[in-house]
Amino acid sequence: MSVSPAYLDDLRQRLPLSGVVARKVRLVRRGREFTGLCPFHHEKTPSFTVSDDKGFYHCFGCGAHGDVIRFVMESDNLPFREVVERLAREAGMPPPEIDLEAEAKAKERLGLLEAEEAAAAWFESQLWSAAGRDALAYLRRRGLADETIRAFRLGYAPAARTLLKEAMLARGFSEDVLVRSGLVILPEEGGPTFDRFRNRVMFPIRDGRGRVIAFGGRALDDAPAKYLNSPESELFHKGHTLYNLDQARGPARERGGILVVEGYMDVISLAQAGFREAVAPLGTALTEEQLALLWRTVPEPTLCFDGDAAGRRAAARAMERSLPGLAPGHSLRFLLLPQGEDPDSLVQAQGAAAFAALQESSKSLADMLWSTLLEAYPTDTPERRAAFDEAVKKTVARIADHRVRSHYESDMAARRRRLFAPLPADRPGREQGRGRGSGSLRRGQTDIRRPGRLSAALLGPDGHAGQARRREQLILACALNHPLLIERHEEELAGLELQNPDLDKLRSEIIRIAASDHDLDMAALRRHLMEGGFGKAIDGLDAASAPLWFAQPDAALIDVEQGWRHVVALHRRLSTLEREIKRLEDELARDFSDEALGRLRALKMQLDQAEGREVMVAGYGVASGREPTV
Ligand code: UTP
Ligand code: MN
Repeated sequence: MSVSPAYLDDLRQRLPLSGVVARKVRLVRRGREFTGLCPFHHEKTPSFTVSDDKGFYHCFGCGAHGDVIRFVMESDNLPFREVVERLAREAGMPPPEIDLEAEAKAKERLGLLEAEEAAAAWFESQLWSAAGRDALAYLRRRGLADETIRAFRLGYAPAARTLLKEAMLARGFSEDVLVRSGLVILPEEGGPTFDRFRNRVMFPIRDGRGRVIAFGGRALDDAPAKYLNSPESELFHKGHTLYNLDQARGPARERGGILVVEGYMDVISLAQAGFREAVAPLGTALTEEQLALLWRTVPEPTLCFDGDAAGRRAAARAMERSLPGLAPGHSLRFLLLPQGEDPDSLVQAQGAAAFAALQESSKSLADMLWSTLLEAYPTDTPERRAAFDEAVKKTVARIADHRVRSHYESDMAARRRRLFAPLPADRPGREQGRGRGSGSLRRGQTDIRRPGRLSAALLGPDGHAGQARRREQLILACALNHPLLIERHEEELAGLELQNPDLDKLRSEIIRIAASDHDLDMAALRRHLMEGGFGKAIDGLDAASAPLWFAQPDAALIDVEQGWRHVVALHRRLSTLEREIKRLEDELARDFSDEALGRLRALKMQLDQAEGREVMVAGYGVASGREPTV
C-alpha cells in the first residue's frame, strides 16, 4: 500500500506522461505541451492538456487532473498499488518496497472495510426478509422502485439490541473492529456493547472507489434523531466524503455538471429520475475538502437548496465557504427550490421534467452573492447604502485568487451602478432635447426627469372604478419593470387586495415566475408573461404607468421602491374607503337613515381628497436623475 515518495518520483521521471497518455488519447503537440480529446468526459473540441515538464495532465473541460499514476488509475480503473507495480515493470524498475508499518495499518483498515461490507450485506438481507417488511413497504411508499433500492444497497437494521453484533461476531469479526467501525457502541459507563443502528432504514455510504465506509440510518419510528450517521472512524471522515460520489462522477463528467443536494433520499430519487449526477454531504454544511472534491469532478457544481429561509442561509454559508477556493473557471451555481420542497419531494411529485425545467433557473455565484447581500442589508438611506457597499467589498475580498477577485470587483461595481445610479454618465445632461443622446429615449418612453403627478396618472374620466384599476396596474407595472422589487416585497405584493380579476391573475403569475428565477430581469419576466398569454395585460400596465417616471425601467430601484410604497399605501387606504362606501350604500338601500347618509358623504369626500394626492418628499427621485423638487 505505502510506497516511498522517492520511488514514485523515480517512476514518474522514467515514464514521460505523454507516452503513457498517448496510448489512450491522440495527442497533438502545442508548444511545450500536448492537447487532445479528454478521455474522462465526452467532448468534440480538445480541452485536455498534457505537460511532461510538469508531469501533470489537466482537462479544462471537466477538471480532471493528475500525474501518470492517477491517469492509469482513472482510465483503467485500477487500484494505486497495481498501477505502481505495472508502471514499474514498464520502466524497468524493481517492484516497490513495502513500508511494513504502513502495511500493518492498511491491514487493519482492511479489517474495518470488510466489516462495513459485511454489515451492508447483512442490512440488505434483512430488508428483503420478513424482518424488513415494514421498512421495504416504507421505501416503496416513498416512490422507490425495487431496482433503485438494490442499486443503492439500501438495508434495514432491526429493532433488537444486538442482532447485527451477533451476526458479525459469528462471521469472525472481533468486537474491537465492530466498535472501531462505529457499528457497535461501547457504553462509556461500561456494560455490554450494542448495535448503533436499530429499527432504521440503512443507507451505505461509499468512498470514492465504491467501498462501504459508513452508514446513515433513517428512523422508522419517532426516534429523537431522524437520521443517524456512523461516527468518524479510521475509514470515515465526514467532511471529506460525499454520498454517492463514486457513482455520480461518470455521469457528472458526461453531463458537465454535478448536483449537490442535502440528503440521501434526494440523491436516490434524483438518480431514479435519471439525474445520476447527484451527491450529498453527510448532514453538515459543505466543507472546503468537499468543494475541492466537487471541483475535481466538474468546473461548476450546482448546489441545490430549499427556497425557505433556512435553505437560503445554508446557500449563503456555502457561498462564503467557496470564496477562498475560487479559481479561473471554477465556480458554483445555485438552485433554489420552491419553498418547502426538496429534490426528492419535487421529483416524486412532479417528475423529472419539472426538475429539469427548474435547473434552468439556477443562478451564478456572482448573482447569488449580490442578491444575498442585497437581502441582508437595507439600502434605503445613504448610511445604509454605505454599509451595504462595505459588506460587498468585504465579501469580495475573501476571494483569494486575484484574477477572479478583480473580475468580481468590476462585476459588483457594475451592479452597484445599476442599483443606485441607473443613468449612465454618458446619458444626455439635464439640458436635454436636441443634440447628442436625446435619442436614447425611445419614442413614447417617459422621460423620468420630467415630473409626473401621481394624481394626474390615476384620475380619469372613468371615475373611481377606472382609478382603482389604474392603481392596481401601476403597482404591478413597478414590479414588472423592476423584478427585484418582487423579491424584496414578495409577501406584501402577494397579500395585496386586487379587485380586478385579470390583474389578480397576472400578479400570481409574476410572483410565480419570480420565485422560480431569483435573478430575473425585466426582459425575461416580460418574455415569460407574453408566452403565458398576458400580452394584453402588459400593454395595459405600460399604458397606465407611462406618465409616471418612477415606474419606468430607468428609475433607480430605491426611487421605485419609495414610489411603489406610496401607491401601495394609497391603494390600501382607498380600497378600505371604497369597501366601506360600498357597505354603507348597501345599508342605505336596505334601511335609509340620515346618519348613514351623513357618514357616506363624509367618506366620499375623503375618497375624492385622497385620490388627488401626490408624493412630495424633498430629494425624492434624485438618484433617478430627476431635478431636485421643492
Ligand atoms: P432532512 O431532514 O432534510 O431529511 O435531512 P430528508 O433528506 O428530507 O429526508 P426525508 O425525506 O425526511 O427522509 C437532510 C440530511 O441531513 C442529515 C442527513 O444526512 C439527511 O440526509 N440529517 C438530517 C442528519 O444527519 N440528522 C438528522 O437528524 C436529520
Ligand atoms: Mn425529504
